[in-house]
Parts: sequence; structure tokens; C-alpha cells
Amino acid sequence: MFSIIAAVGKNNEIGKNNKLLFHIKDDMEFFREKTIGHKVVMGYNTWNSLPSKLKDRKNMVVSELDFDGPDYIIHDIDKFIQENEKTEEEVFIIGGGMIYKLFLPYAKTIYLTEIDASDSEATTFFPDFDKTKYYKTILHEGSENDLGYTIVKYEKS
Ligand SMILES: NC(=O)c1ccc[n+]([C@@H]2O[C@H](COP(=O)([O-])OP(=O)(O)OC[C@H]3O[C@@H](n4cnc5c(N)ncnc54)[C@H](OP(=O)(O)O)[C@@H]3O)[C@@H](O)[C@H]2O)c1
Repeated sequence: MFSIIAAVGKNNEIGKNNKLLFHIKDDMEFFREKTIGHKVVMGYNTWNSLPSKLKDRKNMVVSELDFDGPDYIIHDIDKFIQENEKTEEEVFIIGGGMIYKLFLPYAKTIYLTEIDASDSEATTFFPDFDKTKYYKTILHEGSENDLGYTIVKYEKS
């Protein structure tokens, strides 16, 4: 099964010039806790934005290219979805914009850190989705360096 995990601003912004927009320690820790030991799926741009491979996780990159570094490169996304959508194993979709959009219809759960800030120069956005189709649970509310945020779990009903 697929779970999406992302941190979004007030306008669903997630990135700018292939970098993250917001840096919240609690959010990073939540991301680490959730994804550790699991397969993590990311697009080629997100892979390039990382300083290094994500430790203790199977790094899977969606790309048409072949290159060294990731544990696995996904060329055929339809086949990958077919093979993993109905499994018990939780596969995390970790971005970016293009990859969230591709996997959104197949994700059972969406973990969103909703940050109370915006960036008018953002270049990448989380796709719109119909929140009424999901059961919403607030997992944690906090604030760091004057930046308020809420970690929310959306489960498809
Ligand atoms: N806030 C957050 O939670 C969060 C999380 C992750 C990333 N981000 C941000 O998001 C931004 C990157 O997102 P992005 O939308 O530009 O890129 P992306 O989704 O990371 O990667 C896009 C790339 O994936 C490959 N791809 C996409 N669809 C494919 C398909 N059907 N088959 C094969 N390959 C496919 C293509 O690479 P090839 O050209 O190699 O085929 C494409 O250029 C960055 O700013 C990053 O910091 C934010």
C-alpha cells in the first residue's frame, strides 16, 4: 500500500528551485520515524536535491534514466503501482510534486505537515485533493521558530 508524506505551506507549496521551503525539526523527525525501515519512492529531482541517500530505507527513484546511487530505479511506474498498491507493506511516496501527483489516486494514507506560512516564490506544489473523501486525524500541533504547523493524517474512507 502507498502512503504519501509531505510538508506543505498555506498554498500547498512544497519547494522552490529544487529545494525545500520550510525546515521544521519536528517535521523532519516525524518523517524519519515514519519512513525508517521502509521503501521510499521519490522523483529524480527530489533525489538530486538530497545531500545523501536516506539511511536505513530502500531509496527508490522514479526516472527514465539509469544512474548509480539509489537502491532501485523505477522505470515502469504502472507496473510498480500494480505490484505494490495492494500489498500489506507500507511504501512511502516522499515527493516531489510530479511524483505526488502520479501516486495520489493510489495512496491509502496521506501524512501532511500543514505549515502556517507561505512562499510567493514557490515553484513546486502538492496536488489538490478532495479532503472530504478522507478521514482526518490531527496527530500533532506545534510551533518552531514562530512557525506554526499541524501534522495531519488523511485516510481514504
Ligand atoms: N515539502 C515536501 O514535503 C517535499 C518533499 C519532496 C520534495 N520536495 C520538493 O519538490 C521539488 C521537486 O519536485 P519536482 O516535481 O520538481 O520533481 P520530482 O517529482 O522529484 O521528480 C520529477 C522527475 O521524476 C521523473 N519522472 C516523473 N514521472 C515519471 C514517469 N512517469 N516515468 C519515469 N520518470 C518519471 C522525471 O525524471 P527523469 O527526467 O529522470 O525521467 C521527472 O523529471 C523540490 O523543490 C523538492 O525540494 C518537497
